[in-house]
Amino acid sequence: MVHRIALNFEDGVTRFVEARVDELVADAAYRAGLNIPMDCRDGACGTCKCHCESGDYTLGSYIEDALTEEEAAERQVLTCQMKVQSDCVLRIPASSAVCKVKVGSMPAEIESVRQLSSSSIGFSLKLKDPDGMRYLPGQYVNVSVPGTTQARSYSFSSMPRDGVVQFLVRNIPGGLMSSYLAERATVGDTVMIAGPIGSFYLRDVTRPVLFLAGGTGLAPFLAMLEELERAAPDQPIHMVYGVTNDTDLVEVGTLEAYAARIPGFTFTTVVAAADSAHPHKGYVTQHLPETALNGGDVDVYLCGPPPMVDAVRTYLNDRHIVPTSFHYEKFSPSEVHR
Ligand SMILES: Cc1cc2nc3c(=O)[nH]c(=O)nc-3n(C[C@H](O)[C@H](O)[C@H](O)COP(=O)(O)OP(=O)(O)OC[C@H]3O[C@@H](n4cnc5c(N)ncnc54)[C@H](O)[C@@H]3O)c2cc1C
Ligand code: FES
Repeated sequence: MVHRIALNFEDGVTRFVEARVDELVADAAYRAGLNIPMDCRDGACGTCKCHCESGDYTLGSYIEDALTEEEAAERQVLTCQMKVQSDCVLRIPASSAVCKVKVGSMPAEIESVRQLSSSSIGFSLKLKDPDGMRYLPGQYVNVSVPGTTQARSYSFSSMPRDGVVQFLVRNIPGGLMSSYLAERATVGDTVMIAGPIGSFYLRDVTRPVLFLAGGTGLAPFLAMLEELERAAPDQPIHMVYGVTNDTDLVEVGTLEAYAARIPGFTFTTVVAAADSAHPHKGYVTQHLPETALNGGDVDVYLCGPPPMVDAVRTYLNDRHIVPTSFHYEKFSPSEVHR
């Protein structure tokens, strides 16, 4: 039997390898040409230590100097002694460059472009090599802008289905990718995608979860919800999805469908504009239910434009709310070269 291991490097670059249940993770990585940190290969030095974020595994023999009892209890592992019993995600404490791992890159074709509202565009890509672009729910890729030498980062808003992946993009007037998508994109156009990248991905759900999405920062959560529907966790998951104007609210029907299908998933939408007639007005921080914070024992995932992400972080810091785990992704603008 073979399981899939995601190796997430310090810089967010992720590569997947397949490992047999009787194979050491270190051997599986080397077989795939990935030079993850290694020295003694004997459970003695601790060089190959990393963190297993999700999945089941066994560890062979090692000494306390390489991995303490406490570290093992925290799911630190030695890849030279590790065999997997399910799909796993490993966080490698070294950059992809140090491990001589290149970001995967491949062509893809525009499969569809949908104007979701005056401010949002959905598009999908048909991957040329679906097996070559596996990713964790929440991660992103760099997508080339046809007719230019530039690329923009976009979070997957779906998991792959029949080799097709979805994205959700804010239509910024005059923006390079925005203009391409709004005005010129044609089914069959070829783009290059590079990735997957990012440490903003869904971890195993073992406690209540709070999702905070700003604008098209909803995208990675849509991919996460797809995974949550499959995993059916027994924890409450609450989302607060905030936008500036009523027209920015998109995919609400999709969220309602997830709320009907995923036990424990609830969400609130919030609109900031003063002239909005929306029942929940203001910013996401004004609509955070006390129960969703669970006294701090909560996994918080936060994604959106930089000012929104910074405002939420300041809000939590000011109130001394320290979630058990906190993950965020800022949709920072690229440096614009024309
Ligand atoms: C890790 C990551 C993931 C991302 N995922 C997504 C995603 O899933 N969906 C999505 O819509 N965006 C996402 N972004 C943002 C995206 O990469 C682009 O920056 C954005 O789509 C604008 O590209 P553009 O070519 O249309 O505009 P550009 O030509 O890059 O910019 C045009 C003008 O608009 C300004 N601008 C750019 N972005 C913003 C902004 N957010 N707010 C205000 N002004 C801005 C620029 O400074 C510039 O002046 C992500 C960014 C990062 C870093
Ligand atoms: S390489 Fe030395 S403990 Fe694994």
